[in-house]
Amino acid sequence: MKLTVVAAFCLISTAFCQTGNIVDVAKQLGATTLLELATDAGLAGVLSTGGPFTVFAPTNEAFSALPPRVLNMLKKNKQLLADVLKYHVLNGKVYSSQLSNELVTPTLLEGFKDRINIYQGGKVVTSEGSPVVKVDQNATNGVIHVISKVELPPRGTVVDAAKRNNKLGTLVKAVVAAGLVETLSGAGPFTVFAPTDAAFNALPPGTLDNLLKNKTALTDVLTYHVVSGTFYSAGLASGAVPTVEGKSVNIAVASGGVTVNDAKVTMADESVTNGVIHVIDKVLIPPK
Ligand SMILES: *[C@@H]1O[C@H](CO)[C@@H](O)[C@H](O)[C@H]1NC(C)=O
Ligand SMILES: *[C@@H]1O[C@H](CO)[C@@H](O)[C@H](O)[C@H]1NC(C)=O
Repeated sequence: MKLTVVAAFCLISTAFCQTGNIVDVAKQLGATTLLELATDAGLAGVLSTGGPFTVFAPTNEAFSALPPRVLNMLKKNKQLLADVLKYHVLNGKVYSSQLSNELVTPTLLEGFKDRINIYQGGKVVTSEGSPVVKVDQNATNGVIHVISKVELPPRGTVVDAAKRNNKLGTLVKAVVAAGLVETLSGAGPFTVFAPTDAAFNALPPGTLDNLLKNKTALTDVLTYHVVSGTFYSAGLASGAVPTVEGKSVNIAVASGGVTVNDAKVTMADESVTNGVIHVIDKVLIPPK
């Protein structure tokens, strides 16, 4: 009799059918790649008996979408794999109703925090830029939110990430010349549209040299590339967005990609501890 009642509930809502610990529920949700990797990393035990935890569980498609180089590296290096997986786990139960825009929470990976963003009036929720596709899946020892991209732990600030990128040398030089290193290393959060060296090289002859000689003009140009707040590509919508310089840039989101004024985003969503970087192929010049 009891079984019939449970079966009837299962027909009404699958929520009633999900029972068991985090590993059981992840299995019921089809997150099999995550479970295989967690087993390889020696984390399946703690996920089934420890907690309570909040797990941002990437779908199988999310893992397949990783560049093969990254996936191979994770499969070969158990420590790195464990670190990346721990980066998807928070201590305690955090339900979707407790998430807020720019909420920053420590993860199980020591010293690393996860940033939540809420866009378009709640239509889009991201965890470190990864869209949340299913929320509040209850397990006996925690709660699972399913996400559609694997989260990679950020390494340093906007400035640190720009310094590591061998295509952003000119930008770094300009940021140093403008005295903006400290600001862009601060709490922010910032969204930075980062022009490549090729973008700076494509400016009319003399433009960059003149900018490097005039701190006010240089600061105006650089801060025109910075938006206050963390806007991952999942949260970008078409329209005018005010920059830190004061004037707005015009964002256009289309199937072919994202543009900012007449610049194309060529590499989106590099997560950093104080925001996000999108690499662009043209320098943005503020209108007079
Ligand atoms: C999980 O539990 C929470 C708190 O009891 C509840 O609000 C939520 O609706 C449950 N999730 C599902 C999918 O039933
Ligand atoms: C430096 O740039 C500012 C802002 O564009 C401009 O008003 C100023 O005249 C420039 N200074 C020099 C010395 O060119």
